[in-house]
Amino acid sequence: VADVKGGPDQGLDKLGQSLVITGWVRTLRVQSSVTFVEINDGSCLSNMQCVMDSGAEGYDQVESGSITTGASIWVQGVVVESQGSKQKVELKVNKIVLVGKSDPSFPIQKKRASREFLRTKAHLRPRTNTFGMRWHMLPTNSSKRMGLFGSQVLLSLLQIVRERIPNSHETADSPVDAIPKVNNGLIDWSQDFFGKPAFLTVSGQLNAETYATALSDVYTFGPTFRAENSNTSRHLAEFWMIEPELAFADLNDDMACATAYLQSVIRYVLDNCKEDMEFFNTWIDKGIIDRLSDLANRDVVQITYTEAIDLLSRANKKFEFPVKWGCDLQSEHERYITEEAFGGCPDIKAFYMRQNDDGRTVAAMDMLVPKIGELIGGSQREERLEYLEARLDDLKLNKDAYWWYLDLRRYGSVPHAGFGLGFERLVQFATGMDNIRDAIPFPRTPASAEF
Ligand code: 4AD
Ligand code: MG
Repeated sequence: VADVKGGPDQGLDKLGQSLVITGWVRTLRVQSSVTFVEINDGSCLSNMQCVMDSGAEGYDQVESGSITTGASIWVQGVVVESQGSKQKVELKVNKIVLVGKSDPSFPIQKKRASREFLRTKAHLRPRTNTFGMRWHMLPTNSSKRMGLFGSQVLLSLLQIVRERIPNSHETADSPVDAIPKVNNGLIDWSQDFFGKPAFLTVSGQLNAETYATALSDVYTFGPTFRAENSNTSRHLAEFWMIEPELAFADLNDDMACATAYLQSVIRYVLDNCKEDMEFFNTWIDKGIIDRLSDLANRDVVQITYTEAIDLLSRANKKFEFPVKWGCDLQSEHERYITEEAFGGCPDIKAFYMRQNDDGRTVAAMDMLVPKIGELIGGSQREERLEYLEARLDDLKLNKDAYWWYLDLRRYGSVPHAGFGLGFERLVQFATGMDNIRDAIPFPRTPASAEF
């Protein structure tokens, strides 16, 4: 369908051509002398309107009611000018074949279903425009295919990180890491992974650091897991994270890289996914194009943790979680900073973050964006062995478990820094979706055991 309707004249250049389309019936209107079938093949947002009368071979299947919404069909016909106002061309059908019928209980009907409802049908929601277009991950060599939003974002993330980090290496991150265990896989390996307890990783960072401290700049991209309360609109128990790790780099290098990276991806999406963006702007979030354009071009505001606490304390607003120096920022605080104050604040310090000279803060940063809050979290890593050991002791963490991590500081330690960007949060941000569960095909949350 994209090959016909994706061009500048929306198919008029294909008039008279004979073609075959295979796809799924979106709607069917049977009138006294003519039947209209809207068929979608997943190649683009548009359906192909197929017009047939009793002269078409296989028309009896329409008459008998075996072709219904959701059915898969094969049609052959000729491209003709459409009488309707919604499309330039339609297909005058010579032959129609039912490939697979659809049970009448097919839950995706023409009437727009709520996203909450579609979440309960995660195996079928790719059949809707909203979800189908965003998760069309198949590689294609047709430039006319448009339903590629998720893969465009992925592609741009990888392309831009490669451009910015010329000697980049992809590291395979180990599923075993020194992290708390999470039992949300289908198979519970936690107690017995070939005779040992196993863990799902919260981040590929520590592993990536081993490569960064050997090969300089690297990144890792893979699934990560969190057992934190994920009953919010921006937390998943399983999400994908891209994590660049830069050697011979400090926090400023890290922030500069994160800013340039995010802005490049946003610009890429605005330039290359115009149709998708119009769709999101119309159906999902009316301000999304403006918001992305603003972020792509503005100077990102940088404020320190202390400044953020100051700003929040002076805010003429009652927060559910009171603000005081030392506290972790909650969503409401991030929203105030990005939506009411301006833009830019770190969460509570992890053991690996480099201690600042003031002795009470660390070289860490969070990048916050409107509606979402934290999109990127990063830091300069503690490269000094004695500081790192002292920190592990303070936090009563078992130093023996980190022997290999400490070894990086034993043998040719370098200043290094990195960050993590949550892929689904980026997709959520870029599409304007309200809930992160609609930015991933199968959201894993406490409430989603069936998928
Ligand atoms: O701030 P976080 O926890 O950072 C790390 O894991 C570091 N080890 C990254 C690094 O420096 N290499 O997570 C980074 C990002 C967040 O900013 C957010 O975008 C995303 O990962 N994220 C989540 N996304 C969805 N659901 C969750 N539960 C998430 N937790 C973090
Ligand atoms: Mg964070």
